[in-house]
Amino acid sequence: MKHSWLIAGLIGLGIWWGSAACTSEGKGKPAARPEIPGTEVAVVIDTALMPAGQFGEAVRYGRELMINTARYIGPEGTAGKFLGNRMNCTNCHQDAGTKPFSFSLIASHDHYPQYRAREGKVLTLAERINNCVTRPHNGRPLPLDSKEMVAFLSYLKWINSFAPKDKTFKGEKNRPVSFPDVAADPGRGALLFRENCARCHGADGEGQWRADKSTYVYPPLWGSQSYQPGSSMHRVIKQAEWLKNNMPFDKTGEGKPFLSDKDALDIAAFVNDDNIHKRPDPKTFDYPHPAEKAIDYDHKPFADTFSVAQHKYGPYQPIIDYWKTKGMRPVY
Ligand code: HEC
Ligand code: HEC
Repeated sequence: MKHSWLIAGLIGLGIWWGSAACTSEGKGKPAARPEIPGTEVAVVIDTALMPAGQFGEAVRYGRELMINTARYIGPEGTAGKFLGNRMNCTNCHQDAGTKPFSFSLIASHDHYPQYRAREGKVLTLAERINNCVTRPHNGRPLPLDSKEMVAFLSYLKWINSFAPKDKTFKGEKNRPVSFPDVAADPGRGALLFRENCARCHGADGEGQWRADKSTYVYPPLWGSQSYQPGSSMHRVIKQAEWLKNNMPFDKTGEGKPFLSDKDALDIAAFVNDDNIHKRPDPKTFDYPHPAEKAIDYDHKPFADTFSVAQHKYGPYQPIIDYWKTKGMRPVY
């Protein structure tokens, strides 16, 4: 029995390596970072263990809000009108923030208050949540003492209680992508989009409504109902790191990338190409200190002389090298 498991495992690994080798980046040279899925332990959150009492109620409501955000606080939300669109937190923080490599929120409660370069000040976790309410959801901030904000915080505190305190866990951070020597190519990204994404998100990235139009089966990727340019999802590297492990939705098992790094960067470049895709106007462009700006943030001023296009699409390595020679810390 054990033996056959081993064989099945080896075959599985072979398929995994085989599929990695089929991707464009795999041709000829080995991947920059060899990754064997499952080498770290994933945090398992058992929703049956939610506590009783008022705190448990807040945790439950917080989880509901993560999954059915638009229903409660969307443009016609039953608990107040805060979001500017009908997306849900779980569209990006999948499985209500608990899926590995999907902007996991399991560790977040431990990490705040925290200095944030984008605002140039220390933010509480509640203020950080409101950043997602205002940018990707194009909305207005929840009052910090609202029942909804308290519920989000309670839920994040509760999932945090499952996290190991002394070490990282599987998918706490999204996997990095290796950078090609050339800029990400939105034209190639458009072709890959048609092939891999349009069947769910629509040829024009408009997504697909649920029958009652309260929210989406497949959320939109650009247009007035999508995230703002000020959102982290609008950064090409940030999005590529997420796409690599999470899209196409039906082809990426847990921790098992489908797109090659180059494919993910080219597609993210296409999705986030502001020359062809409209988005809601951002209310603010942040980063008061240019030397703390993420290198793939596409808005001046920069702490270097690289163009807006190079910051947005790359090649990124020359920017990273330049920052290092100047004693600055490149973030992306
Ligand atoms: C369009 C995608 C998208 C949506 C929708 C979204 N977020 Fe985010 N969120 C992000 C990205 C990207 C980050 C930055 C992650 C990173 O830098 O690793 C982030 C970061 C966060 C963080 C900070 C995590 C940390 O540990 O620093 C919190 C908390 C958060 N989001 C909560 C929410 C909540 C609550 C909602 C729903 C109201 C939401 N997000 C909706 C994309 C999204
Ligand atoms: C089989 C259907 C399917 C395919 C194919 C697919 N997606 Fe998705 N996508 C989803 C679903 C469903 C979600 C929301 C996930 C959730 O709520 O758990 C999503 C969420 C997203 C999001 C975050 C939310 C948003 O709207 O901004 C992005 C970005 C995204 N997909 C991009 C892509 C790209 C790029 C491709 C092609 C490489 C792709 N998807 C292929 C189903 C799909």
